[in-house]
Amino acid sequence: MIIYSQLEHKDEQLSPIKKNMNSESKKIFSTQDALKIAKQRLPRVIFDFIEGAAGREVSALQNLTRFDEIILQPRVMQDVETRSLHTTFLGQNYDLPFGIAPMGMCNLAWPGADQTLARAAQEFNLPVCLSSAASSSIEDMRSWAGENSWFQLYVGSSIEASLDLVDRARNAGYETLVLTVDVPQVSRRLRDLRNGFQMPFSMTPKLFMDFATHPHWSLATLWQGVPEPINFKSISGHKKFDRNASRAGADWEFLDRLRTKWKGHLIVKGVTSAEDAVLIQQAGADAIYVSNHGGRQLDSAPAAIDVLPRIRQAVGADYPLIFDSGVRNGEDVVKALAMGADFVMLGRPFMFALGAEGARGVNALIRILGEDASLTLAQTGLADIGDVSAHMLDKCPPELILESLTSKQNATKKTNGMKRNH
Ligand code: FNR
Repeated sequence: MIIYSQLEHKDEQLSPIKKNMNSESKKIFSTQDALKIAKQRLPRVIFDFIEGAAGREVSALQNLTRFDEIILQPRVMQDVETRSLHTTFLGQNYDLPFGIAPMGMCNLAWPGADQTLARAAQEFNLPVCLSSAASSSIEDMRSWAGENSWFQLYVGSSIEASLDLVDRARNAGYETLVLTVDVPQVSRRLRDLRNGFQMPFSMTPKLFMDFATHPHWSLATLWQGVPEPINFKSISGHKKFDRNASRAGADWEFLDRLRTKWKGHLIVKGVTSAEDAVLIQQAGADAIYVSNHGGRQLDSAPAAIDVLPRIRQAVGADYPLIFDSGVRNGEDVVKALAMGADFVMLGRPFMFALGAEGARGVNALIRILGEDASLTLAQTGLADIGDVSAHMLDKCPPELILESLTSKQNATKKTNGMKRNH
């Protein structure tokens, strides 16, 4: 277990990668730092693919601003010298309460990015979720990240092709499957449309100039061959992954079928409606992943953090919930937990860290997020991340008031391998 309060004076607590400052960026102190460096290093078409969102990008912006509006109440004179971020989720122990969200085409940010994320996931003991649209194979990711790897499934019009991916994931040894349901169709992302982002790239004069003016990226990435989604390629009779094709195969009927087929942990990702959450819970999913896809799907969608308390209330105090969309620092991680999540994922921050400095960026980001979350515990009078609850919110959402009272009474109750109570 990493005890972050002791980072400075007890180096022996840390794994070698965290001791060796050469393996960590010295320029990144926040997600914003990583973003700025990535913006300089990456061609515009790539940076915009990562940072961009649906429509006018209102939803993506609100994901961030709504976090800023959440106020945590400091508490003083508690014994917080030794603190733990250790978290158990779906029966697995992690050293940190956050992980890496599924993202297609990470290797566009840095060559071998999936492997870099896998390594970091093992070294820091946090989960990394491989996307169906990744440019690394399901089998390779499992061999790199072992038990720390999850697999995310998109379901296109060919149900059989998607079920083949499920078989491959099971054969490779994955225990956790994330079914993404909020991309019935990829939305209009204006930056991508304007920049001509498509897979595979079709070289236009504009794109050529973009690549030519970012020679470091171009040499490193294009030299190795442009990454492309590879997991769909190997399915006999199934054509290559078409980014714009419908992914609406993930319907209620498919969920029933998948629940029968997949014996491991099943998480349904992309939920912002309390009604949907209850139906998914009733369909037998092991956890719900509250997310608006980082604002990349419906521009008028609610900020994901706003709907989290409502969904917590709907599914009850003990049902496992993961959260992403708009988390940028350790305080946000703690805020999401206080608002009803059991575990937190981040997307773009990892892409920015990769785009900025590859492994050195990712190592820095994870350490910073961990330290920040730990310091947030200290300032709010807590020693254990498992004690985070709605009580620390300055304005407790009405949906959580009853839940937080219940959790106070059951403070030591453990359900479904989870420590947290809301
Ligand atoms: C994504 N996301 C995503 N989600 C998913 O289920 N499958 C995927 O293949 C992808 N691909 C993807 C690519 C890129 C470049 C980004 C930025 C995001 C969504 C991702 O898992 C997550 O929900 C959001 O990124 C969370 O929001 P933040 O943390 O980026 O604000």
